[in-house]
Amino acid sequence: MNELKQERRLVTEIPGPKSRELFERRNKVVARGISTTLPVFVTDADGAVLLDADGNQLLDFGSGIAVTSVGHADTNVVRRASEQLAKFTHTCFMVTPYESYVAVCEALAELTPGDFEKRSALFNSGAEAVENAVKIARAYTKRQAVVVFDHGYHGRTNLTMALTAKVAPYKDGFGPFAPEVYRVPMAYPYRWPTGPDNAAAEALEQTKTLIEKQVGAHNVAAVLIEPIQGEGGFIVPPDGFLPGLADWCREKGIVFIADEIQSGFCRTGDWFAVDHEGVVPDLITTAKGIAGGLPLAAVTGRAEIMDAAGPGGLGGTYGGNPVACEGALGALQTMKEQDLPARARKIEAQMLGRLTKLAAADPRVGDVRGRGAMIAVELVKPGTKEPDAALAAAVAKKCHTEGVVILTCGTFGNVLRFLPSLVMSEALLDEGLTVIEGAFAAV
Ligand SMILES: Cc1ncc(COP(=O)(O)O)c(C=O)c1O
Repeated sequence: MNELKQERRLVTEIPGPKSRELFERRNKVVARGISTTLPVFVTDADGAVLLDADGNQLLDFGSGIAVTSVGHADTNVVRRASEQLAKFTHTCFMVTPYESYVAVCEALAELTPGDFEKRSALFNSGAEAVENAVKIARAYTKRQAVVVFDHGYHGRTNLTMALTAKVAPYKDGFGPFAPEVYRVPMAYPYRWPTGPDNAAAEALEQTKTLIEKQVGAHNVAAVLIEPIQGEGGFIVPPDGFLPGLADWCREKGIVFIADEIQSGFCRTGDWFAVDHEGVVPDLITTAKGIAGGLPLAAVTGRAEIMDAAGPGGLGGTYGGNPVACEGALGALQTMKEQDLPARARKIEAQMLGRLTKLAAADPRVGDVRGRGAMIAVELVKPGTKEPDAALAAAVAKKCHTEGVVILTCGTFGNVLRFLPSLVMSEALLDEGLTVIEGAFAAV
């Protein structure tokens, strides 16, 4: 097993010559639609650092987009997945089952909110989980409409493109899209027209009115929302919005689906982002952080809703692959043993402390927000709320050249998001924040 010293170390420029050569090779054979944030080729990774082909070590503030929350090459993930790899790699759970799939579903039933009987179905990707959650909600309610939110992101398959708000680059030219999808305004405190204090009540009222008038609540199978929006800009809805929405869904017989694919599994300082306000979704979709980097996703929820889909109606050849399931059991073990929700809350305090000071000193930082280790800054033209995507790109690029991997996001491309692994040390986190502050000073 690899053990890398947990430090940032630059020995060439970023990207170095070997990475540049590999990138040229890549461009000749990889489709243009697959983009690259930072063209350094990784040869090894451990904990919170990535080693590249030129021998540079980078601090990972992206975790492969919120996936390696337990750190790279986590001991429990590696041990359990490797042992499984040597035994068997596949039977297809729908043909001849194996125990680890059942154990993952048991863990999901225990960890997800709600004190009722639950069922889970396992898949390969987040988009697949979301598609299946919608299928299940439709089968249960015998209704068709799905309500989603402005700035929402749910994937790149046909149905999830329709569920996703942002046209470029996700949807442009890829239609026609799936029907019966209705989008309503998101309670986005920083950009709410009448001010953040009104966002919860007004957004809730607008959602109800729009749906009642334009769709009819009795036609709505599901309301689908990310409890903290990810790709859309790490938008944290104001207190009261999610509980109000969940109550309204219950009243109208609508299945309330929380898409926790980015926010789940300790990332926000709780096991799930909905836990913050005690919201209990009917269905919850998970992926990313669940399995320490192995491809696994799930839909979990109330037994009577989940079981509305008949035998053979759900599944897929690889869903709940045994190596990925063992990886998930290893990742969950680490999350519990190291109390990673608590660690995420510490990261929040450390990051918000420094970033709030940065915002006070730099008028280009319009908003600092997020929860746990899911933190972002929204960049604007000073004195306005006009998005400054060019600045976000420049700061990210500067951080990359200094060996800190950070990502951008947001409908307007003007948000820098920070998703360190939950095992990153306080000292490394501090060092990364110093690089980020330095990048703001330099651009
Ligand atoms: C909230 C949310 N839902 C769904 C998805 C799609 O997941 P995947 O890329 O695994 O298909 C993502 C991915 O970023 C996501 O953040």
